[in-house]
Amino acid sequence: MQMAIDGPAGAGKSTIAQILAQKLQLIYIDTGAMYRALTWKALNLKIALDDAEKLYNLARDTDVYFLQVSDEQKIYCDSVDVSGFIRTPDVNDKVSLLASHSQLRKIMVEKQQKMAQGRSVVMDGRDVGECILPSADYKFFVTASLEERALRRMADLQRQGHKGCYEKVKCLLKKRDESDSNRETGSLKILNDSIVIDTDNKDIEEVIAEILSIVKDN
Ligand code: CDP
Repeated sequence: MQMAIDGPAGAGKSTIAQILAQKLQLIYIDTGAMYRALTWKALNLKIALDDAEKLYNLARDTDVYFLQVSDEQKIYCDSVDVSGFIRTPDVNDKVSLLASHSQLRKIMVEKQQKMAQGRSVVMDGRDVGECILPSADYKFFVTASLEERALRRMADLQRQGHKGCYEKVKCLLKKRDESDSNRETGSLKILNDSIVIDTDNKDIEEVIAEILSIVKDN
């Protein structure tokens, strides 16, 4: 079975995808983490995030992969475990700019398709249903209001020990939504064949139950 979970930042896609992976025995592939890992490397190498050619070369030459370490999934960039470095405020703010380059996206989509080939997977991102797994068995678009997503993102930041100002977090999420929605390729959108799951005022268990009931009914 192949399942695509797309949606805007802070909607809870990755938490939902991880739980579904466990319950349905699927391999979880977090495509956003791959863009984040590349952003981390680009920032370290001081590559300008508007330099399409350098970023294309970076994507082509970087080995980004996942490894299961006990019960945790880690992401590696070349042979460095970058799991702890990719959710900082700096990467949060810049990742969308890096992900806006069409040529770089082509390389990433190819890598993601190879990871999924012939396997039962749940993938979360923005363009999974449209570009990575267009024939997925299930396509979900998981969303929530901007306000709710900003509150959830604040809680994430606080858990990691970062201070967050609600208005600033909300404004940055809005900017990221706009940039993810308006780019040329792989943009954030609801597809004709995707099922919208609105997570406002629902906890994770309720969202999982809703998705599982759709899967079981089919
Ligand atoms: O966790 P959150 O929703 O904040 O973001 P993410 O899923 O980690 O993705 C981070 C960023 O990577 C997004 O804002 C997109 O700009 C980009 N991305 C993308 O372009 N295509 C994907 N398939 C996944 C993420």
